[in-house]
Amino acid sequence: MNRNIFSFLLACMLLTCYKIDLFAQNEISDNKFIPKALWLDTEGHHINAHGGGIVFVKGTYYWYGEKRGDKTTSAGVSVYSSKDLYHWKNEGIALSPVDDDKSDLTKGCIIERPKVIYNKKTKKFVMWFHLELKGQGYAAARAGVAIADQATGPFKYLESFRPNGNMSRDMGLFVDEDGTAYHIYSSDENYALRIAKLTDDYLRPTKADSLLFRKHQEAPAIFKYKGKYYLITSACTGWAPNQASIHEATNIFGPWKFTGDPMKGPNALLTFGGQSTFILPVQGKRNAFIFMADVWRPKSLQDSRYIWLPIKLAPEKPVIEWVDNWDLDYFN
Ligand code: DGJ
Repeated sequence: MNRNIFSFLLACMLLTCYKIDLFAQNEISDNKFIPKALWLDTEGHHINAHGGGIVFVKGTYYWYGEKRGDKTTSAGVSVYSSKDLYHWKNEGIALSPVDDDKSDLTKGCIIERPKVIYNKKTKKFVMWFHLELKGQGYAAARAGVAIADQATGPFKYLESFRPNGNMSRDMGLFVDEDGTAYHIYSSDENYALRIAKLTDDYLRPTKADSLLFRKHQEAPAIFKYKGKYYLITSACTGWAPNQASIHEATNIFGPWKFTGDPMKGPNALLTFGGQSTFILPVQGKRNAFIFMADVWRPKSLQDSRYIWLPIKLAPEKPVIEWVDNWDLDYFN
């Protein structure tokens, strides 16, 4: 092939790839959710808040998640704020590992799946997270708790423990309509999923702590709709995606009934390449819930991507169908 034509074709190919990539990054300015694209904050950096969750207080959403440093390093918990769920401002680090060998949070520890809830009685923001102690891999299996006066922190680390003596890895928090909060956690080497009712200040588990089921599940994400609780979980395959499950119950302590896999569309059997982390009730819309998942990139965790999809509240069971892009008008 003539060298000039070859160079021209090569330039066209590169330009096309570049354009596609640019387009994929354009999630925010288009006011759209593009699952798996780069999600840029208001300063143009990929949002670094993995395995996270969102709390809504006084007109603002706060997104907390794992801040990842180089490759797999745990750099604490980051917090972003938004009024509209499309534009996220980096509010910095809500909780940081510390330079103190005696602290559970000493640099080198692993902080995963942070969740924050707001306690209307104490007016405090309470953070729970999965904590692994430095140099012990995933053996410690503890829950950590921190507290703050402001949504953006700084959070004060309180303590870590195994709830009622149980191992605690992947976790979520849920506040019911009456203000009672619960910690849902993978226990017993992830074979058991447990739930513990929290104390009124949300800082400790109570003895109301029981087994939900023994099905080797993690990544719990819960929501309530028309008096029923729905719980989405993943199987346990490390950072690799797997098939999701959904259970439902009329009593949060169970019995929980398995109703199948809620995902629908290409790659649904692998949760579209993602793993559940949280279900967000959209404010100001009736019965509007967003399924949030992480697409892990284990070699460089900070580069992991997000999948947010609307939940279709079908009569039989909730369905989460893949769409290439969508916006909040879906719920109108
Ligand atoms: C799966 C969990 O869901 C993640 O949060 C993380 O702990 C990885 N396992 C580690 O392999």
